[in-house]
Amino acid sequence: MLYATTEQHEKLREKVRAFAEEKVKPLAFMLDQGNEFPKEIVKELGELGLMGIYFPKKYGGAGLDMISYAIAVEELSRVDAGVGVILSAHTSLGCNPIYDFGTEEQKLKYLVPMAKGEKLGAFGLTEENAGSDAGGTETVAVLQGDHYILNGNKIFITNGGEADTYIVFAVTTPGIGTRGISAFIVEKGWKGFEFGEHYDKLGIRSSETRELLFNDVRVPKENLLGKEGEGFKIAMQTLDGGRIGIASQALGIAQGAFEAALEYAKDREQFGMPIGAQQIIGFKLADMDTKVSASRLLVYKAAALKTAGERYGKEAAMAKMYASEAAIYVANEALQIHGGNGYLKGMEVERFYRDAKITTIYEGTNEIMRVVIAANLLGPISRTTKPQTKRAPGGTTGYRKKIIFKDGTPEEQVDALVAALEADGYDFTVGIPIDTPVGKAERLVSAGQGIGAKENMKLIEKVAKNVGAAISSSRPVAETLKYLPLDRYVGMSGQSFKGNLYIAAGISGAGQHLKGLKEASTIVAINNNPNAKIFKNADYGIVGDLQEILPLLAKRLDTGEKKPAPPMIKLKRKEPKQPKQIWQLYVCNGCGFEYNPGVGDMENDIVPGTKYEELPEEWTCPECGEEKTAFIEV
Ligand code: CAA
Repeated sequence: MLYATTEQHEKLREKVRAFAEEKVKPLAFMLDQGNEFPKEIVKELGELGLMGIYFPKKYGGAGLDMISYAIAVEELSRVDAGVGVILSAHTSLGCNPIYDFGTEEQKLKYLVPMAKGEKLGAFGLTEENAGSDAGGTETVAVLQGDHYILNGNKIFITNGGEADTYIVFAVTTPGIGTRGISAFIVEKGWKGFEFGEHYDKLGIRSSETRELLFNDVRVPKENLLGKEGEGFKIAMQTLDGGRIGIASQALGIAQGAFEAALEYAKDREQFGMPIGAQQIIGFKLADMDTKVSASRLLVYKAAALKTAGERYGKEAAMAKMYASEAAIYVANEALQIHGGNGYLKGMEVERFYRDAKITTIYEGTNEIMRVVIAANLLGPISRTTKPQTKRAPGGTTGYRKKIIFKDGTPEEQVDALVAALEADGYDFTVGIPIDTPVGKAERLVSAGQGIGAKENMKLIEKVAKNVGAAISSSRPVAETLKYLPLDRYVGMSGQSFKGNLYIAAGISGAGQHLKGLKEASTIVAINNNPNAKIFKNADYGIVGDLQEILPLLAKRLDTGEKKPAPPMIKLKRKEPKQPKQIWQLYVCNGCGFEYNPGVGDMENDIVPGTKYEELPEEWTCPECGEEKTAFIEV
């Protein structure tokens, strides 16, 4: 089977390329620098019929095939990979699961406006503890009457915030692994469905990426996609197709970078000739073009197989893996050929170099692509030997008390908070300078975007002085608002707080931020949004307006000039006692072999946790072959 394109495919390429050159390319640098979502361009993609390119016309699509889709994503990514992924995530992750698994009503209600480009789609699978291990989903949906009640968070969601329709995966039957996960269609605007801050990314900065926050969101029963328990398969099958989109995006980046390098190599002269005429550059161009061509063949092969209704999961994984690694190689070489000029902001190759990296990460890392390819070759060999590890209970910051002071007036709530902190051993007559480095501070008062105008930082300083703490912030407060220097923001990419008391004021609790305070002995949250994730990760909390609570806290802790704090003694956090599983042991009457249910008998496919009574009747002693009935309880 040849994976050549037809005349119609090439006509489509011309059309998309013309649009990309005329409408997208001139804006690409500005969108990248501004971290800006191109609303107008997305609208025009809909008008061009590209937002539902491979769905039948009766569902609002253009009725074309998967190679047409690959060409559209490739041509857009050739000038702006952020725009490429907006189309890809919308089509293959947002629309496709509805097309494949939706009821006729769901298709008419949701797919039609999405395929026409009137509504944008997104896909919510990834969570803090469910990345490559997508089956680790912790978001839950509990059926209550006619609605599922959805609770949990999704991270790194492409089109998050901008999209209208979300495919969300949640556990409906706990304790049975991937078979307990279901898929739902969730609409933006439903009560309790909120978004985190737009991530500030290395590349594809014109695409929007946010956290999805679900707090008691009522999802009508009819928005269950497929059947209960089918969610994981829906996710996996959807990602098989999505990987063709990401492979096409990578191909487009590589094509764009290659063309820029070829042009530059013909134009730039050194040693009295164009640099392309020098063998070292000519060879680079030869390798780059070969990799681009090989990527294209793999991408179109996977696309053609999907159109033909044949199995294509392995081929999609191969295409994504190869094309993404080729994109990184080609973008790197393209920048190298440009020399110092390529290193400058505003140069296309500098952007391609940054944009390429994500393609080896999202919609399945290339490590997972190799798992998928190998599993297609060998079968899922690892499954039966995989003991399930149990994580400690608690959110991102580990186990926390989660006590919210709600009784009485705000003054009384502040009094209760201070009393609890004093009972935990905090002495508020001592303090540290407010500019103590974050990594060395025993206490921090930290501002989030809820702080509002810059002048309100004075309030943070005042509270910090009276708490005896240094000041810090979330990342946007330092980076975007520039209220504090960058070395004062706490988070995974910033400073880690290793001290005792962390007071988060107006911080919503994005996962990246929470990772920076995992080691805090005590976390206090003050926020006006009772659903803010920070409350699930704090020991104590007050739901209230910062303008009201912070002055009360400052006043309550105003003990005059603080004495210098003695060297820090790290306060121990209380962890819940894990009930220790004591297994009843059984000994073989024949040879003395001990059967421990906690260990199981993996050689004979008996997983850890299998009680003696649950052992199959035909099971025999692994040492001497005695029957199960020959075992006695010890
Ligand atoms: N199609 C249909 N069903 C599939 C399937 C597929 N491709 N792959 C697996 N399944 C089924 C299996 O048959 C199995 O079914 P049964 O329970 O009936 O036997 C079930 O799913 C579980 O399969 P595994 O045991 O193989 O699952 P696993 O837990 O070992 O995980 C994995 C397999 C391949 C590692 C998978 O977890 C995976 O693909 N991880 C990567 C996740 C990923 O790609 N995330 C990207 C997030 S989205 C994103 O990035 C979007 C964006 O920003 C643009």
